[in-house]
Amino acid sequence: DERTYIMVKPDGVQRGLVGNIIGRFEQRGFKLIALKLVHATPEHLEKHYADLKGKAFFPSLIQYMASGPVVAMVWQGLDAVKTGRAMLGTTNPLQSSPGQYSFAYGTIRGDFALAVGRNICHGSDSVESAEKEIGLWFPEGIVQYTHDQAKWIFE
Ligand code: GTP
Ligand code: MG
Repeated sequence: DERTYIMVKPDGVQRGLVGNIIGRFEQRGFKLIALKLVHATPEHLEKHYADLKGKAFFPSLIQYMASGPVVAMVWQGLDAVKTGRAMLGTTNPLQSSPGQYSFAYGTIRGDFALAVGRNICHGSDSVESAEKEIGLWFPEGIVQYTHDQAKWIFE
């Protein structure tokens, strides 16, 4: 089954959005296979965002991501990478769809954020980057267990 690396960024942790974000992935039917709170070093974050090195915003991105703890997670399920990105919304939250009613979910960024440099969450952009990011954030490996709900979620 496909796996994706999802991370609540320091602003999401500080704003108390961890439970809400985890809840959306649980509710959708994804299986949680790794989770931890980490205050990452700039060196670690430079590896995570290695493909953005050279962008004008790179130093401020690293500073933002190192400004507090993040919640690192791996979620598994059907089309996890693409669906995870869709649940996050666009990089710039201003272009992301908010929920139609206050009690309905839109995208995470569309519901909670306004600025591209404070966009709450990260999601892997391809299966290859997901596997690279999972290795970087969880070098200790991942717990195996049976997700009993799966038989009610998939045919
Ligand atoms: P991630 O899930 O965090 O990887 O975001 P993304 O895949 O939607 O966007 P991308 O990988 O291109 O950029 C990584 C992060 O850099 C974004 O989530 C933003 O926080 C930040 N970023 C991207 N573009 C800009 C920009 O133009 N200005 C600023 N200030 N930050 C940016
Ligand atoms: Mg990205």
